[in-house]
Amino acid sequence: MGKNRVVIGCQWGDEGKGKIVDLLAADADIIARFQGGANAGHTIVVDDTKYILHLIPSGIIHPGKTCVIGNGVVLDPFGFKEELDFVTGKGIDYTGRVFVSPAANLVLPYHKLIDATEEKSRGTSNIGTTLRGIGPAYVDKVARLGIRVADLFAPERLKKRLDHNRVMKQKYLSGSTDERADLDRTYNELLALTDLFRPLMADVSLMLHEAKREDKVILYEGAQGSMLDVDLGTYPFATSSNTTTGGALTGLGIGPKMIDEVVGIVKAYTTRVGTGPFPTELIDETGELLRREGDEFGATTGRPRRCGWLDLVALRHTVRVNGVDSIAVTKLDVLDTLPEIKVCTAYELNGERLDQVPLDMAELSHVKPIYQTVPGWQTDCTGIDRFDALPENTRDYLNFVADDLGVKILVVSTGAKRKETIMV
Ligand code: GDP
Ligand code: IMO
Ligand code: MG
Repeated sequence: MGKNRVVIGCQWGDEGKGKIVDLLAADADIIARFQGGANAGHTIVVDDTKYILHLIPSGIIHPGKTCVIGNGVVLDPFGFKEELDFVTGKGIDYTGRVFVSPAANLVLPYHKLIDATEEKSRGTSNIGTTLRGIGPAYVDKVARLGIRVADLFAPERLKKRLDHNRVMKQKYLSGSTDERADLDRTYNELLALTDLFRPLMADVSLMLHEAKREDKVILYEGAQGSMLDVDLGTYPFATSSNTTTGGALTGLGIGPKMIDEVVGIVKAYTTRVGTGPFPTELIDETGELLRREGDEFGATTGRPRRCGWLDLVALRHTVRVNGVDSIAVTKLDVLDTLPEIKVCTAYELNGERLDQVPLDMAELSHVKPIYQTVPGWQTDCTGIDRFDALPENTRDYLNFVADDLGVKILVVSTGAKRKETIMV
């Protein structure tokens, strides 16, 4: 019987979750997203076709797989419609395969307007959000002001809740000439979506429990990275959801026994988009090389990603908070040309050596990485399909990382394409 796996980004996002979820989806029946929203950009490359998904789970490319969006996701209904049209345009039939929890909160145009206004007001301390309205939508959820998918089917309630939001958000909306501040317009546009959403409604929790009872295999797809977790990441330079394993439970309405294995996705180096601490960041030619070779530009915003060496201290933290069992190491090929590679094994803070992240994560902006230098392999690894066939130095690098973290290696990815993969 297949394992029910949760796939979690172990760094600051963009680890290659899309690719790995698509890969593991071959052995699953249901692929479930549990948090985040269209701030995510998950890339899948099959042969010569590239798909970038924001809300639809990365199992959609496999014909016949069921894709569900849980209550923990903040769903932009207009972006979602565009995405359904996008996959349809790629020849994918989603009918009867995509389901949405009515308890998911909606990201509405005014959330994006508020996101932009708040970012501006933060000035030089801005977070560098994706401007997808994610933070403001989660704020509304917790403040119990949110509009949920279910409200689409109760027009009077929807109207009333929008009217209440208009009052509560006066400081952002009143007097604004931005069309996103026009809640009557939003109301009408939402009503036009009800027919699209009606057949997608499902009790996601119940659906997953019944699937488990029938021995179907569920793959849980995380978004963002653990270092962006609102509780356990580099707050306030974080996203607004629990990106870690716990988010899968609350975001889908499942218990811990519904998960058999936690798969952490680890990029062979580190990247980060937006602002916030990044101890191993390289602002030099090697950083440029990683960006160029790794094509490190945001899948959602197109922004250049900040690049640096692998950070084992941060990874020890994220492996622990998620309970990671095994890792998928991605973008190994990006390191192929380097004569030597550095790995951060500890930090120095105020003259002291730290093997774990500091108690106050804000201190991450003051730590100095302590590196161990390992030899590179200077061999093109793309196309190698067995772990044993990798150069010795490559295997040493991978084993060094896995041993330090106390996890096993499940997958090694040596290129963006589905087939450029080693199953270990
Ligand atoms: P996600 O947000 O974690 O799904 O990752 P993104 O899709 O935002 O970014 C990962 C990028 O790396 C995408 O462009 C992928 O196509 C690409 N990618 C994934 N795995 C590999 C790999 O092993 N090698 C290379 N060169 N690219 C990869
Ligand atoms: P995937 O799923 C990388 C970052 C933003 C910003 C911070 C807060 O593709 O890995 P938000 O819009 O969420 O309020 O922004 O989080 N961020 C991501 N960085 N990958 C992502 O998603 C991200 N989603 C949000 O850049 O620093
Ligand atoms: Mg991404």
